[in-house]
Parts: sequence; C-alpha cells; structure tokens
Amino acid sequence: MSDPIIRLLTVDDLADAFRLSTIVGWNQRLDDWRILLRIAPGAAFAADIDGRIAATAIAIDYGRFWWIAMMLVDPSYRRRGLGRRLLETAVAAVPTDLPIRLDATALGRPLYLQYDFEDESTISRHVWSGGPAIGPAPGALNSGVDVRPMRSSDLAAISEQDKTSFGGDRAAVLEWALHDAPHFAHVVYTSDAPAHYCFGRRGRLFDQIGPVVAGDERIAQVLAGAALASAADRPVVVDAFDQHSAFSAWLRNRGFAVQRPLIRMRRRAKVNGSRTAVASGSIAEFAILGPEFG
Ligand SMILES: CC(C)(COP(=O)(O)OP(=O)(O)OC[C@H]1O[C@@H](n2cnc3c(N)ncnc32)[C@H](O)[C@@H]1OP(=O)(O)O)[C@@H](O)C(=O)NCCC(=O)NCCS
Repeated sequence: MSDPIIRLLTVDDLADAFRLSTIVGWNQRLDDWRILLRIAPGAAFAADIDGRIAATAIAIDYGRFWWIAMMLVDPSYRRRGLGRRLLETAVAAVPTDLPIRLDATALGRPLYLQYDFEDESTISRHVWSGGPAIGPAPGALNSGVDVRPMRSSDLAAISEQDKTSFGGDRAAVLEWALHDAPHFAHVVYTSDAPAHYCFGRRGRLFDQIGPVVAGDERIAQVLAGAALASAADRPVVVDAFDQHSAFSAWLRNRGFAVQRPLIRMRRRAKVNGSRTAVASGSIAEFAILGPEFG
C-alpha cells in the first residue's frame, strides 16, 4: 500500500467517509458525518491512501472534557498501525489539561488501554428489531408523570442541566437532535428538578433513543416509552448504562434484546505530571445519544 497521509477530514471527504462507515456496518447517515464535522472543526482526521479515506478519528470539544469518535479503519488496512496513528493524532488535538472520554467497542478497547484510557462504566446495546408499534399500550403509562413533546423553548434549560448530568456541553448536538428527529424528543417537569428529558436520532439501519436523562427509573421509563410510541415501524436501539438495572429490565420486558457491550473509557487530564479525574457526570443519564456523540 502507498504511504498513508494523515490529514484533516473535509466536507469533500464526507461521501467517502460515509462509504467507510457503511462497509463496516455502522449506522451513520451522511447527515451524521456532517454534524460531526461541524462540531469538531480542526479536529476531524483521516488517513488518505491514494485519494481514498482508509481511516478516521474525530475529537470533539465538549468544554470540560473532549470526546473521541469515529475511530474507524477500513478492514483491508487493519493491524498496520493506522488506528494507532489516528488515535495519537486525535489525542494530540486535545489540550493536555482536559480529560478525554469515548465509548469503546471490544475491538477498540485494547488500543485505548495502551494510551492510558481506563474503564469508567459499561453500556449495553438494546435492540428492538422492528415490527408492530412497541410504544406503551393505552393506559400502561398510568404513572402520574406528565410527559409532553419537547419544544425549542425547552432547550435552554435542558442544555444547562445536561452540563451536569453529561459532564460537558453538548448543546449544539442536542439542538441538532431535536431539529432532526423532533418526534423522539420529550420532556417531563417536576417540582424537584429543572427538567427530565429524552432525545432520539434517525439512523441508516436503525433509529436510536437517547440520551434519556431523568431523576429516577420511573421517569426514565416514561420518557423512553413516549419516544418509543413515536418510533416508526423500523428497528430501534437504546444504549443503556448497565448500572440502571431496572431500566435495562424494562427494555427487555418491552421486547428489546441485548446485542453488544460498549465500555465508556476515560483518559485523565495530564496536569503537572499527574492525571486529574474527570468531573463527575452521567449519574442521571440512563441511555446515551450514541457512541459517536457520547
Ligand atoms: C479498532 C481499530 C480502529 C484498530 O485499528 P487498526 O489500524 O487495526 O489498529 P493498529 O494496527 O494501529 O493497532 C494498534 C494496536 O492496537 C491493538 N489492536 C488493534 N486491533 C486489535 C485486535 N483486533 N485485537 C487485539 N488488539 C488489537 C494491538 O495492540 C495493536 O498493535 P499491534 O498490531 O502491534 O499488536 C479497527 O480494528 C477498527 O476500525 N475496528 C472497527 C471499528 C471499531 O470498533 N472501532 C473502535 C470504536 S471505539
């Protein structure tokens, strides 16, 4: 093979990047690549071999931490050091005083372990493979929780609260999700919390519900149930944190099957030679937006 050139990914590359994520069976649409490039200006990278995109990695600045996404190497170029080079390039784009997080597949984890990433929590992909509507049966959500579709005017309060539950600022992504898939987005207001909320996204192969952020399991189920009731007749995925076992059990009871694990990993910030812990977050996050976004 010709020597790969590691360079910035540009708008002109997106069709080829989309080809790459499609051949490995990932769920991104061209639109997902567009938003990823938009939120990671100057930190989206590609390995270019003879004018084709052979590998990608994207580093997203979420304020209090960075996120590494789309670590992807063309199957015909694996185990030749491309993943390592792309990861090093993405990590080098992150200021050393900030931590990095990512959601690792079983294939990616051995590589990340070599770069000081540590396991932080586990996530399971729950898949519902399509069929008749799986939303709540009439009366089934007789829970006393008042859930309603989200409006643009809810976003400011939700984004502010999300900084605590997620631990970083992903307001631009949440705004995009609401705009792109408004039917999934729902909100619950209670007197003891600013907002509980749920978003979703459309995908190439399946739709995804998340993030689901709530004060307790019951509200999380009501939010996810409302989103599911709005799902079209196509597969739906929920990547749920395993620590919320009642939420996972509820998904299984609704007909979801557990497909594969993801490991949330973090690399602590390097400050004065020692690595500092990531700010706490995610305690009320039941399901993630997706491994590309956190
Ligand atoms: C994970 C991935 C990006 C690695 O890319 P790669 O170019 O093959 O990785 P490298 O050649 O740079 O490997 C670097 C090191 O990582 C480790 N590694 C990479 N692939 C591995 C595998 N399949 N099993 C065990 N270790 C592996 C090895 O230590 C390897 O060094 P070595 O080849 O000298 O032993 C690639 O397998 C891939 O695209 N997988 C599918 C998409 C995916 O799951 N991405 C991760 C998302 S979190």
